[in-house]
Amino acid sequence: MENRIITLRDRRFAPYIPAERIHAAISEVAARINRDYKDSVRPLLLVTLSGAIVFGGELFRQLEGPFEIAFVKLSSYGAGTTSSGRVRVEVPLTADAEGRDVIIAEDVVDTGNTIHALHDMLTERGARSVRVATLLLKPDPYFRQSGRPDGPLPIDYAALEAEPRFIVGYGMDYDGLGRNLGALYTLCEE
Ligand code: PRP
Repeated sequence: MENRIITLRDRRFAPYIPAERIHAAISEVAARINRDYKDSVRPLLLVTLSGAIVFGGELFRQLEGPFEIAFVKLSSYGAGTTSSGRVRVEVPLTADAEGRDVIIAEDVVDTGNTIHALHDMLTERGARSVRVATLLLKPDPYFRQSGRPDGPLPIDYAALEAEPRFIVGYGMDYDGLGRNLGALYTLCEE
């Protein structure tokens, strides 16, 4: 099934990264986090809704020690295929971040608007440390476009890197569809 072109609403998408590569990359990230946070007292995995639920769940399942999970929903995209640059809070943070080591779990870091807004929010709330784990990093838009005065935040745990193309699957959607696909697909140039 994963080798086929699929259609979501009015667009066609071609296979991009298969499930096995995704699982392996997430396990590598989990192993690194387990090493880095073995002494952390109250670490928190903060999953951004909705896109990161699939990655965040798979990652959380592999984390060891006293990790807790929490959620937040910011929005930066409309119904189309490009970033609008706007970030608004749709579901407030579901946990107290004060004094905690927080790892933001993202499905994709594109312009970085979302993680920068979240980093500022967590710092204001007294997080002890903030790091970013993402299923996909698009290095080109992220390192080229960041409008943050002190430069882009480091991306501590990027499972996979991707070209600056529109991608669906594994939590990522096109107009609400495709989040349940078990692999990554990219928009066909037509
Ligand atoms: C998407 C994605 C990331 C963000 C990345 O969220 O889930 O959170 O955009 O883009 P950025 O680096 O340019 O900020 P979206 O607002 O589409 O919500 P969703 O997760 O519910 O699809």
